[in-house]
Amino acid sequence: MTNFVSAPALNLPDVPIQLAKRTFLAGSTDASMPAAISQLPTATFPLVLQPKPGLHANDISVPDWAADANKWIDAVLHEHGAVLLRGLPLLSADDFTRFVEGLDCETLGYAGGIALRDAVTSKVMTASYEPPEVSMEPHNEMAYTSVYPSKVLFFCETPPACGGETPIVDVRQYAQLIDPALRQKVTQTGIKYLRHLPHQRAASFASWQQTFYTDEKQDVKRFMDERGFEFYWDEDDNLTYSYVRPATVPHPKTGEDVWFNQLVSHHASYFQGYPDDAHADFDYHRSPFHSQYGDGTEFSPDIIAHIREKIWLCAVAFSWQQGDVLVLDNLLVQHGRMSFEGSRRILVSLVK
Ligand SMILES: [Fe+2]
Repeated sequence: MTNFVSAPALNLPDVPIQLAKRTFLAGSTDASMPAAISQLPTATFPLVLQPKPGLHANDISVPDWAADANKWIDAVLHEHGAVLLRGLPLLSADDFTRFVEGLDCETLGYAGGIALRDAVTSKVMTASYEPPEVSMEPHNEMAYTSVYPSKVLFFCETPPACGGETPIVDVRQYAQLIDPALRQKVTQTGIKYLRHLPHQRAASFASWQQTFYTDEKQDVKRFMDERGFEFYWDEDDNLTYSYVRPATVPHPKTGEDVWFNQLVSHHASYFQGYPDDAHADFDYHRSPFHSQYGDGTEFSPDIIAHIREKIWLCAVAFSWQQGDVLVLDNLLVQHGRMSFEGSRRILVSLVK
């Protein structure tokens, strides 16, 4: 017995979401960048669930809604990749926290992550502090680490007044559009992820002291040695480290190998056109993050543009409503964030 019923497909936001030549979007000046997000949401992506007609959402407790949602998520998420729960009686971070608790799943912290996030409650974080004028390209959450969430839950506490959509991309669809020879080569070599963390006395972005919560190089060395990461200190005590991760991983439920990496969203070209001058025009080796083939050779600009094009060709966007909960299978679906104006508060919970 379920109190949810599936709803018709969502509408694309009224105003086209520009991509080509969009300010502060990585790759937007590439000739191959699509003009705008063009795929419509369908009845199956994202699958929209809402309370049955005639049912008052408030008549059912948040934990009971969560238990009901949990059954749907278990049954259909690995097929659809994305489920939007709309019309639940959730107003605040505390409500969302109770909902996540009711899902009976283990949540994951953000240790080792790149973005700045604040814990709002024990299970809920702010989604991102990237400047509002920046559009973040779709990515699988923390696909550059060995410990990543299996699901990502977003909650819309305050819908954006203008823009601020969360584009979603079915990885199974876009991976098929990537040049097969390129996909094969990247699958063979894996992807090398590089981080460059300045000493705090010269830091214009996160220092190694901030990132590892220590002033001692010995602590950093232990972290690197435990993981088998390559690292070195330059003459100014700045830290560079790197490691290789596979480009695909087996899906825990279906066993299929899925394209799961941050080849483009971890690439230093992300910072081209970034509004902060401190990040502009990096030598790639001094960029806060960067990606290469697993053997250490660079991806050509054409390859980065090719993959960005395919991701955006498959992007689907919709307008947030207060109380929406978007549940993503993190291995199957990427998420991004379009720039916005005015207030917007989307919270996130990462599920182990
Ligand atoms: Fe993210």
